[in-house]
Amino acid sequence: MTGPGRLVVLGVSSSVGIYKACEILRGFQKAGFEVQVVMTPNAAKLVSPRLFSALSGRRAAVDPFDDEEARRIGHVRLAQEAALLVVAPATANIIAKFASGLADDFLSTLHLAVTCPVLIAPAMNEAMYLHPQTQENIKRLKARGAEFIEPGSGYLACGDEGWGRLAPVEAVVQAGLRRLEAGRTLAKKTVLVTAGPTRERLDPVRFLSNPSSGRMGYALAAEALRRGARTILITGPVSLVPPAGAETVRVESAEEMRSEVLARFGEADAVLMAAAVSDFRFSQTRSEKARKEDLPETWRLVRNADILAELGRLKTRQVLVGFAAETGDVEEGARRKLREKNCDLLAANDVSRKGLGFESEDNELLLVEPSGTATPTGRAPKTELSRIVLDRVEVLLERRR
Ligand SMILES: Cc1cc2nc3c(=O)[nH]c(=O)nc-3n(C[C@H](O)[C@H](O)[C@H](O)COP(=O)(O)O)c2cc1C
Repeated sequence: MTGPGRLVVLGVSSSVGIYKACEILRGFQKAGFEVQVVMTPNAAKLVSPRLFSALSGRRAAVDPFDDEEARRIGHVRLAQEAALLVVAPATANIIAKFASGLADDFLSTLHLAVTCPVLIAPAMNEAMYLHPQTQENIKRLKARGAEFIEPGSGYLACGDEGWGRLAPVEAVVQAGLRRLEAGRTLAKKTVLVTAGPTRERLDPVRFLSNPSSGRMGYALAAEALRRGARTILITGPVSLVPPAGAETVRVESAEEMRSEVLARFGEADAVLMAAAVSDFRFSQTRSEKARKEDLPETWRLVRNADILAELGRLKTRQVLVGFAAETGDVEEGARRKLREKNCDLLAANDVSRKGLGFESEDNELLLVEPSGTATPTGRAPKTELSRIVLDRVEVLLERRR
């Protein structure tokens, strides 16, 4: 698997400018990026995908229904891994498909699935480029955040002189590298994230836990990685795959979580405590499974250490972010926790609401800060919420300088 933020997807469509795509691929490789080529079926009629596979060392993708791609759901995996989608050359047709949201081949399907920046380098004859429909399509895509690398003027393959020639290789590569660098806003920072529940064992088959899925913490770690941070993920037992590139430490109990967090706290610039740490553990544990008949009617529990409060006392330069699952008056609870734990930001959610919070893909947070501001995020997927939280963390880190 490629390191985080190191995979460029090069989309290639069927323009004569296709001969320059090999050099563009090389340009990104020289800058240290892995390149995955995705061709339209028509592009594969102009040049064999084998050439791009050979140059990139990765099988060029053309058909999402190809057995191997379909098995891996290739376009979705690629969309998650891509740090940048560059389409060069982009035909009038692929631009129109992107603009209208069509998804009838690998490249257009991928375009809908990516969340990374999209860079488009058109190449076509002047009439096609200047056609009001093409211009409208370009305008629409720009409005949605796509960046265009304007074509140059000069000799065109159709024999005409005029607009529409694919921008020079260097211009495409440089624009791509600029875009990749701009996204690495947490480069040189270390972000520590805790995720998931803890398990407090009674014996080998019984434990005390909670329904945390780990999704919020894993989404935060993935977003920190995307922004170029060294990312440490300390995770309780969950069924998720840690994001590639995270330094992942697996723990089970609150005590293990505490000692792993404390061991790494000094290295961190920002600490996001999204784990749902059990407040209690059994006063006694057994290494052998006890027979039900031999168990007492009641158990004594002892309180676990409050890791967040401990970090609040220890912190020096760290931006400390707490997460709180609340019921009742969420804002009041969040403000109290922020104060008591000495956090810089507290993200609270109302776990009494159905379909939100624990075990769910979506959540809605209230972001409370010591200045007194309380900002509701609105309901959103946890991936989107992680972007909102890390945007805020970046502002707080900036203030530390
Ligand atoms: C040799 C050749 C060169 C072409 N060059 C271009 C071009 O530079 N720009 C363009 O928009 N279409 C060009 N076309 C037309 C496209 O290939 C055509 O619109 C096709 O349907 C686009 O498919 P795609 O976008 O899926 O690759 C060319 C076609 C051929 C046969």
